[in-house]
Amino acid sequence: MRKQIVAGNWKMNNDLAQTESLITALKNQAKTTDAEVMIAPTSTNLWAANNALKQSSIEVIAQNMHFAENGAYTGEVSASMLKSIGVNTVILGHSERREYFNETDELLAKKVDAALAKGMRVIFCFGEELADRKAGNEETIVGNQIKNALFHLGAAAFQNIVLAYEPVWAIGTGETASPEQAQDMHAFIRKTLADKYGNDIAETVSILYGGSVKPANAEEIFSKPDVDGGLIGGASLKAEDFFAIVNAF
Ligand code: PGA
Repeated sequence: MRKQIVAGNWKMNNDLAQTESLITALKNQAKTTDAEVMIAPTSTNLWAANNALKQSSIEVIAQNMHFAENGAYTGEVSASMLKSIGVNTVILGHSERREYFNETDELLAKKVDAALAKGMRVIFCFGEELADRKAGNEETIVGNQIKNALFHLGAAAFQNIVLAYEPVWAIGTGETASPEQAQDMHAFIRKTLADKYGNDIAETVSILYGGSVKPANAEEIFSKPDVDGGLIGGASLKAEDFFAIVNAF
């Protein structure tokens, strides 16, 4: 059985006081669920968030990390630093990191290696831009993003990898891929994995959808056979909406 996962990507939102109050609200909303629930606060608040959620099943995860262990990389945070405060999962390859911080497939491959070497779990994001989809190139783009950053890995590494398909044109735009578009792409992603690593591996990797998931559309998207959950941006900033999405399973 693949894990069902709903992860909230808070991006650069919420200072310490706001983080604490959103966590209090999340604890009040939380119900028993089979899905794994995660939140990714900004790096300055990971420690506080993790402490506040110690007794809870909500996992605190990071939005980014550097590939080096330590050294002269002003402003960056390493896998060991995250692990030292109890953060064991990191989002890598988000389209905002690719676009605004010039993160390439090659750089991302190094970050993935560094995270896995420290025993961390990676939520690896990728997705095509609107122009790619209009030109009918979405599968080529997505296939290459996956191959370039992940296909140097051995099969065992995929125990610690979650994939997140996030079409760039659907992130923060209010425009969502239709459940059919999501399913078609997720099936393609699973086939790409199966072609390289075999069906057994491909069937165990969770593939999340991200891009304007809301309480109103989560149920239909999550009902698709190859959609194993969601990476939620805007709607994860309100406890009620976030848990309405979690409960859509
Ligand atoms: P959104 O963001 O839900 O606000 O579209 C998704 C994401 O960037 O992970």
